[in-house]
Amino acid sequence: MKKIIIAILAIVLAPTLSYAGSKAEVLHWWTSGGEAKALQVLKDDFAAQGGEWKDMPVSGGGGDAAMQTLKARIVANDAPAAAQIKGPTIQAYDREGVVAPYNIDAVAKAEGWDKLLSKQVADHMKCDDGKAYCAAPVNIHRIDWFWANKKVLDSNGIKMPSSWAEFNAAADKLQAKGIIPLAHGSQPWQDATVFEAVALGIGGNDFYKKAFVDADVATLGGSTMVKIFDQMRKLKGYTDAGSPGRDWNVATGMVMEGKAAFQLMGDWAKGEFAAAGLKPDVDYYCAATPSNNGYLYNVDSFIFFKIKGKEKVEGQKLLASLIMGKEFQKVFNIYKGSIPARLDVPMDDFDKCAKKSNSDLNTAAAKGGLLPSFAHGMTLELGVKGAIQDVVTEHFNSNMSSQDAVKKLSAAVKAAS
Ligand code: BGC
Repeated sequence: MKKIIIAILAIVLAPTLSYAGSKAEVLHWWTSGGEAKALQVLKDDFAAQGGEWKDMPVSGGGGDAAMQTLKARIVANDAPAAAQIKGPTIQAYDREGVVAPYNIDAVAKAEGWDKLLSKQVADHMKCDDGKAYCAAPVNIHRIDWFWANKKVLDSNGIKMPSSWAEFNAAADKLQAKGIIPLAHGSQPWQDATVFEAVALGIGGNDFYKKAFVDADVATLGGSTMVKIFDQMRKLKGYTDAGSPGRDWNVATGMVMEGKAAFQLMGDWAKGEFAAAGLKPDVDYYCAATPSNNGYLYNVDSFIFFKIKGKEKVEGQKLLASLIMGKEFQKVFNIYKGSIPARLDVPMDDFDKCAKKSNSDLNTAAAKGGLLPSFAHGMTLELGVKGAIQDVVTEHFNSNMSSQDAVKKLSAAVKAAS
C-alpha cells in the first residue's frame, strides 16, 4: 500500500518537483494594461511549476528601449536568462556567441516544435545555422490594422475604409466636424508602424519585399516611395497637436473614449480594448488596412542566453516549454490581441478580429503577401531598420517634402547596409 501511495505521489508531483528551484530573469517591454495581463499568465504558470521569476520590464512600446538595455547587459557580460526579442536580432546575437541554443533545443525536440509551428516561424527561432532552437515564439501579431470607435463612425455615416482614398475621405469628413480622425503617438516606432502599412498598401507585396526585406536602394529611392510619403503627410494632417511623443496605448484610449475615430496600430491595441472590457462590432471595429492580400507579421519570442547555474538553465527549459504550451498560447493570445504561433490551437474562443487575422494570414501566405514587419524587427538588421525609421520620423515631424524624404531614405539605407 505504502509503495502504491509513494508511486502515485511521485507521478502527481513529478512536474512540480522537476522544476522546483528553477529561476529566470526575464527582460521584456510588456508594461501596458493588456500586455501586463497577458504576461501575468506566463508568470503564474512559471510560479505554479515552482519557478522563481525575476521581472525586468523596460517600458517603451515597440521595444527600442528594451533592446538598448539588453545590448548593455550583454556588453557587460550580464545577460538575463531570457529576453523578449524579434527576428534577425536572434541570429545576430547567436553570431556574437552569447546565445545558448542547446539549453532549450532538447525541449523543442522532445515536444516536436517543428511540427507545431509553420516553417516560417520556426526558422526565425533557430540558431547555429538553423540546427537548433534558441528562441520560443508566443504569438503572431498583425501590424496592418485600422481600429475605430464604432459610435463615432456610425453616427457620422462612415464605414471602415477599403482603400486609402476612402480613408482620406472619411478623415476629411470627420475633421470638418471637429473630430480627431487619427489617434497617433508620434514616436519613431509608431511612425514606422504606420509607414509600413501605408507602404504595403500603396506599393503592394512585391514592392514591400524589395524595399524592406531586400533593402533594395533603387526601390527605396523610386517614385512609388514618393507616393507613400505623400500619404504619410496626409495622415500627419489627421493627427492632433498632442500627438508627438504620446504612448501608443494612450492613443488607443482616445479611440476607446471616442475622442478620436481611428488608430493604425498592431493588434496589441486589441489587448487594450479587451482589458477595458470592450468588444469588436459592439464598441469598436477592426479592419485590415487597404492592401492586396498583404499581411505584415510580427512574432514575439523569447531568446535564451548562455548563463551559469543549473537552476537558471532549468528555468530556461521550463519557460520554453510553458511558452509553447497549447492552453497557454490560447489564454495568453486572447489577452494579448494576437493569434497563437502554434498551429494546433483552436480559434473558437477567439474574437472576430483574431479569427480574421488567422484566415487572412493563410490567404496572404498563399498569395505571396505574408511579409515580415520591418518596424517591429522581423526583417533587416537593426542598423538598417534604424536608418529607415529615422528618416520616416523626421519626415513625419517636419515639413520635409516627399522627394527629399525619398532621397534621404535611399542614401541612409545605402550608408547603413
Ligand atoms: C510587440 C508587441 C507589443 C508592442 C507595443 C511590439 O513590437 O511585438 O508585443 O505589445 O510592440 O509595445
